Amino acid sequence: MAWPAGVHSAAISQARPRLLSNVVLRQDHSATGGIHPYHAAIWHGSNVPQAVGQALQIAAGPSHGWGASSILMPTKYMDGQSLSPKDIDAIAVTRGPGMMASLSNGMVAAKTLASVWNKPLIYVHHMAAHALTPFFTEESPPAFPFLTLLVSGGHTMLVLAESVQKYQILATTSDDSIGDAFDKAARDMGIPWGGNTAHSNPGAALEAFAAAADITTVQELKEHLRKQKNIALPSAMRGQLAFSYSGLKATVTRAVQALPSDVKTRRALAHLFQEAAVAQISEKLRLVLQRTLDLPIKDVVCSGGVASNSFLRQHLRDTLDAAGKEGTRLLFPPLEFCTDNAAMIAHTGLLFYEQRTHDLSIQPVAKWNLEDL
Ligand code: KG4
Ligand code: ZN
Repeated sequence: MAWPAGVHSAAISQARPRLLSNVVLRQDHSATGGIHPYHAAIWHGSNVPQAVGQALQIAAGPSHGWGASSILMPTKYMDGQSLSPKDIDAIAVTRGPGMMASLSNGMVAAKTLASVWNKPLIYVHHMAAHALTPFFTEESPPAFPFLTLLVSGGHTMLVLAESVQKYQILATTSDDSIGDAFDKAARDMGIPWGGNTAHSNPGAALEAFAAAADITTVQELKEHLRKQKNIALPSAMRGQLAFSYSGLKATVTRAVQALPSDVKTRRALAHLFQEAAVAQISEKLRLVLQRTLDLPIKDVVCSGGVASNSFLRQHLRDTLDAAGKEGTRLLFPPLEFCTDNAAMIAHTGLLFYEQRTHDLSIQPVAKWNLEDL
């Protein structure tokens, strides 16, 4: 699910913006095993208009509930006033990076509203929106410069955020993302998600599946894997400021084929996969902490879909503490704002309000470096 359109109002007011609605319509990709561009195009084509319609309806209603696209309004609108198009100052929309089919649908929807209502547009970078989410979810937002760990289906990056618009990528993946590895591992292990299950994505399903692993079986399997060359879970790019998840993905596939398929073994393997995936993140964070000792970093932000993972959350805290950074804040958005949502796009639009434009010729970009904002 790429996120599409955030509709927001940013009257130039110092009032803390409030979210009037946040509609997320999810596509169930469990049948196809992953997001297929053709299906993403079809789905976005029908769901983006519905989500925008619902978001506007909710915001216009008497009770400004949480629920869908996002509408951020200054506090004055929370006093029972109804939202109408005249109250909207600008429309924020994701320009990239991401799947062209998804981005185009969101941009057409936003441009159509902008054209009909004669409103300016704010074109938002998806990963900047993940990094800046705590400005909206935290009472006391992070102070620049801060470190941000962006872990999603498309990215695995450690970034130094120097200002709202200035980012320095300290480490990125040389191949696949951590989210992609979770998705592939869940698929290989046949862990159900979507449909009637409690989990809307494969990563969350794998986390829950691994949480019930039996500790003795985990230890035995760990020993076993260590002795088997071709299925020993790798710790990639040690000592380097770079991530790699393709080796882990391939090894898990081989391990699933080589090991017994009973649930106990599968849960233990899911646990060990998660441990290996997270260990890599912790190692890179340690390296970055050592190399940024001269910077006044008080906050570390971890955001993106994989930041929902509680095993990762605990390990990052432990990593900071072990590095003598007990006083450094570690900020995670609430779960509904870790995975893609329009609220973060609307809010980032607010932070980039000065860049609003009536230019409808701006095109989506599938690849867009965060350093080139
Ligand atoms: O940020 P996001 O919603 O979409 C992209 O921008 O890619 O991230 C989606 C990714 C998927 O790979 C999904 O499986 C993963 O985040 N994810 C998780 C968890 N929740 C979502 N991975 C591990 N544990 C979770 N609890
Ligand atoms: Zn995302």
